[in-house]
Amino acid sequence: MRGVLLRSVLAALLLRGLGEGSALLHPDSRSHPRSLEKSTWRAFRESQCHHMLKHLHNGARITVQMPPTIEGHWVSTGCEVRSGPEFITRSYRFYPNNTFKAYQFYYGSNRCTDPTYTLIVRGKIRLRQASWIIRGGTEADYQLHGVQVICHTDTVAEQLSQLVNHTCPGFVARGPWVQDAAYDLWRAEGGCECTQALRFAMHELQLLRVEKHYLHRLDHLVEELFLGDIHTDASQRRFYRPSSYQPPLQSAQNHDHTCIACRIIYRSDEHHPPLLPPKADLTVGLHGEWVSQRCEVRPEVLFLTRHFIFHDNNHTWEGHYYHYSDPVCKHPTFTIYARGRYSHGVLSSRVVGGTEFVFKVNHMKVTPMDAATASLLNVFNGNECGAEGSWQVGVQQDVTHTNGCMALGIKLPHTEYEIFKMEQDARGRYLLFNGQRPSDGSSPDRPEKRATSYQMPLVQCASSLPRAEDLSADGGGELHGRAPGTRAWPLLLAALACFLTLPLWGGPS
Ligand SMILES: *[C@@H]1O[C@H](CO)[C@@H](O)[C@H](O)[C@H]1NC(C)=O
Ligand SMILES: *[C@@H]1O[C@H](CO)[C@@H](O)[C@H](O)[C@H]1NC(C)=O
Ligand SMILES: *[C@@H]1O[C@H](CO)[C@@H](O)[C@H](O)[C@H]1NC(C)=O
Repeated sequence: MRGVLLRSVLAALLLRGLGEGSALLHPDSRSHPRSLEKSTWRAFRESQCHHMLKHLHNGARITVQMPPTIEGHWVSTGCEVRSGPEFITRSYRFYPNNTFKAYQFYYGSNRCTDPTYTLIVRGKIRLRQASWIIRGGTEADYQLHGVQVICHTDTVAEQLSQLVNHTCPGFVARGPWVQDAAYDLWRAEGGCECTQALRFAMHELQLLRVEKHYLHRLDHLVEELFLGDIHTDASQRRFYRPSSYQPPLQSAQNHDHTCIACRIIYRSDEHHPPLLPPKADLTVGLHGEWVSQRCEVRPEVLFLTRHFIFHDNNHTWEGHYYHYSDPVCKHPTFTIYARGRYSHGVLSSRVVGGTEFVFKVNHMKVTPMDAATASLLNVFNGNECGAEGSWQVGVQQDVTHTNGCMALGIKLPHTEYEIFKMEQDARGRYLLFNGQRPSDGSSPDRPEKRATSYQMPLVQCASSLPRAEDLSADGGGELHGRAPGTRAWPLLLAALACFLTLPLWGGPS
């Protein structure tokens, strides 16, 4: 058993690392090995990043409930950032009679340590059909019964009542608000309505997805509720029907036990808003390699995983975007390889905790991965995406000389104004968040279009070179060293042994 496992691990490592038969590797990544150690380390590192991309859930078995059962109590797993920026935690309860009570706790800064006000949203939800737009999602309708606000300081109470009274003249009739008292912003009966001052919309309830993760290593069930995304332009929120998801909420009954924020949020209410533990902001260091942690959903019906490589020494980057047609990222449609340069990071004055970068894309390669995409690329006339009519499934083409690929809506050279933040997860791994894409499908190609909220985080899968601690750590084989080390070959063997002792392989996922 162990022998078979060893052979298959070695085979998998060699295949992935050296690119033979691996559709995911681009040819550049295996050119010019400088020394045995370097190329061996590189092979290991590639295998590590690709392993994580192929086994997105790190051995967990995932089932998607259709239709979803949303009854229960669901909470945020940390401080969430919405466009604006708004810093928020959520605690939503769905009852058997199809009603819900949702708390949205708002904060003054990016660690969710300083509550400003809380919205209490009550209503009724009815699940509809499976979504035609976002495969794997379920559509729903909701009706509001009431929205109340409670301010947690007198200053916020005064400011908010002025804002509301300004947006809806005369709404705050009886003197300014005071802290800890609940005020109606919306009531089903009585025609009282003034939620637009707070840019409130609850359309996130129009798209739902429930995932059950069986962490078999820990014999533990984690349930996640994905709700619809919020438009990146706050003025559009009230008119926007979700077409992707926000970061998932976790079930209070079945949550990851390492989630401290979950417990704090679970115990909170409108008079005791959650105070998350203060943490220092990490300096964003882009160096190393980063991969998606799950199959990501983008507006415009795209499912994808990402793999970025940043070279700090010369400020260049490489990105691999693997696109799929299905919500579990099993059926590839096309992959894009892009590279270019990036600027030095500058702390954002607009989004506390964010660091701004400018990214340039000047090279791009495209690989169609299914017949539909290959023929789509072939029917595009003119010199607009590689050599006309020459696309074949699995064959990569450089499209730099045609200035990108019009068929895929990508024009080169391209500049993007980005925002990043870095965090560490409960296991100490580095997470990298970059800016949410504009919900209108455009790209952040001007400074004023720079995002004020983030996408799903990438996890670091390799730093520049390994440190001994990283390879002997028991965190599932992930690497996140920062300082360079040397003895790559013995470390590689140590890492192999580490693979063998962890049940990462042969899981049912
Ligand atoms: C639905 O159930 C909740 C919780 O049991 C209860 O508070 C609420 O009043 C019920 N609503 C209706 C309309 O029955
Ligand atoms: C709200 O605005 C009205 C006039 O539109 C004003 O009479 C009232 O005093 C204001 N309320 C507060 C609390 O400022
Ligand atoms: C930048 O540095 C990386 C790693 O040292 C190297 O692989 C890459 O070719 C360099 N790129 C340029 C444009 O110099």
